[in-house]
Amino acid sequence: MEKLALLLIGFFFSLAAALERSQFPPGFLFGTSTSSYQIEGGYLEDNKSLSNWDAFTRMPGKINDGTNGNIADDHYHLYKDDVELMHSLGVNSYRFSISWPRVLPRGRHGDINWNGISFYNDLIDTLLLKGIQPFVTLNHYDIPQELEDRFGSWLNPQIQEEYGYFADVCFKAFGEKVKYWITFNEPNLMIKWAYMIGIYPPGRCSQPFGDCTFGNSTAEPYIAAHNLILAHATAVDIYRKKYQAKQRGSIGIVMAIEWKEPFSNNEMDRLGAARSVAFAVAWFLDPLIFGDYPSEMREILGPRLPTFSSDEKKKLQNNLDFIGINHYTTRYAKDCLFSPCDSLTAESEGFVIGTAEKDGCLIGAPTAVPGLFVVPSGLEKAILYVMQRYNNISMFITENGFAQDSRSDSKMEELLNDRERVEFHRSYLSSLLNAMRKGADVRGYFIWSLIDNFEWLFGYTKRFGLYHVNYDTQERTPKLSAKWYKKFLQGSGIQSKANNCNSLNKDLSE
Ligand SMILES: *[C@@H]1O[C@H](CO)[C@@H](O)[C@H](O)[C@H]1NC(C)=O
Ligand SMILES: *[C@@H]1O[C@H](CO)[C@@H](O)[C@H](O)[C@H]1NC(C)=O
Ligand SMILES: *[C@@H]1O[C@H](CO)[C@@H](O)[C@H](O)[C@H]1NC(C)=O
Repeated sequence: MEKLALLLIGFFFSLAAALERSQFPPGFLFGTSTSSYQIEGGYLEDNKSLSNWDAFTRMPGKINDGTNGNIADDHYHLYKDDVELMHSLGVNSYRFSISWPRVLPRGRHGDINWNGISFYNDLIDTLLLKGIQPFVTLNHYDIPQELEDRFGSWLNPQIQEEYGYFADVCFKAFGEKVKYWITFNEPNLMIKWAYMIGIYPPGRCSQPFGDCTFGNSTAEPYIAAHNLILAHATAVDIYRKKYQAKQRGSIGIVMAIEWKEPFSNNEMDRLGAARSVAFAVAWFLDPLIFGDYPSEMREILGPRLPTFSSDEKKKLQNNLDFIGINHYTTRYAKDCLFSPCDSLTAESEGFVIGTAEKDGCLIGAPTAVPGLFVVPSGLEKAILYVMQRYNNISMFITENGFAQDSRSDSKMEELLNDRERVEFHRSYLSSLLNAMRKGADVRGYFIWSLIDNFEWLFGYTKRFGLYHVNYDTQERTPKLSAKWYKKFLQGSGIQSKANNCNSLNKDLSE
């Protein structure tokens, strides 16, 4: 018996030894991620107004299962329980977003909603009491619908001042306690889906990109992005001039970075892969660091890409303290600048066609979300790309996660036994370590998501949580992955106990 026990202990230790928390620097942030519309519910409570997503989900046919975020995870009422879940996991940070219409129901055209301010203050205080750093996204897709109705939100330069006002209110209300700010979540995806394909609010596009009543897919995305980039700069300017010296926090942006492998070894595909990453990522990051759009985009889009004045260029340079990376997948990129394109829309991706299949094989295991494949090495490559292009700027992996299908006949025990998710995170964390060994300055890793939640167009049919949520009872149940994350965060037990104490002491003395 004893021998068997020792063998088992040895076996588990060797498994855990492959990946351990102690391989990451002390002070490294390990957390979980969520966003306001996806978890809060309370959609009209305490004077919150309707957001663009409240309005959009009411339109028939927009969300796969016809659902919405009216209640979602009811986190608005259950936030204390959810912080307790995080405390039991042992995370030292939590990334969440602020609902703009909860804090400013009418933008700057009405009063501050003090109920909204006190909700986020209570959440932040509850986190800090448990030793969990708040990592706050100012805007994760949801805006007051009034800003859409009044002036067309991102298409109108007025949004810059509007967003600056919102950011100022948040820095003032929460900034003494918040050390990490993110201006925008995945604007590169949001703008394309809202103004190019038209499947996110306000649902604008033109043929052949999509089927919308209004919009212009070849012009509006670049105008909306331009206003968003300048809105970011307005907020950062306010933070740096009025708050940063006193509050001692840092501010960055989060980009969705899908990695692209060249479809073949030829020069065209290699250039194509690089060009498509520039179109997706450097579109926002080049202006915010170097002060202008990437030449890769200017060469192809010409005057359709707006221009920055010389004052704006100055204001934009070095506008990021860090870059947040949301990473879910990698696909192949096939050049179609030099070879014929079978898609009229390829110009917007830099004349590249993305594909997951080559010689009858997929690039990685498929997941419950179409287009997302498990390719761990893509994370290392995405990180090294950002490190090299942006002069070794500091980075956080602000989202990385694995989806399960949730059908009416899905069995709870199968959903709880999410071994694939455990394997996913182990392999992506190893890939992250590889990038850090090559010199990348990565300071944190956040799993998407703490709890199952409203997955935008998929409604409640995909589950990304470490905790399962029963949407009838709001009961949260830890999945295998929650137990794994907790163990990983505790260290691997038995023989490494002494190390844990050391690293804890180091954390405390910092
Ligand atoms: C909500 O707004 C209304 C009208 O502005 C105000 O009378 C009411 O007191 C507010 N409710 C709360 C809970 O603040
Ligand atoms: C979109 O805008 C461009 C540039 O203003 C214009 O040339 C084009 O005709 C417009 N397309 C549609 C579908 O309105
Ligand atoms: C990047 O910066 C970090 C932290 O300042 C440093 O440790 C690392 O060596 C740098 N990497 C490269 C490739 O210069």
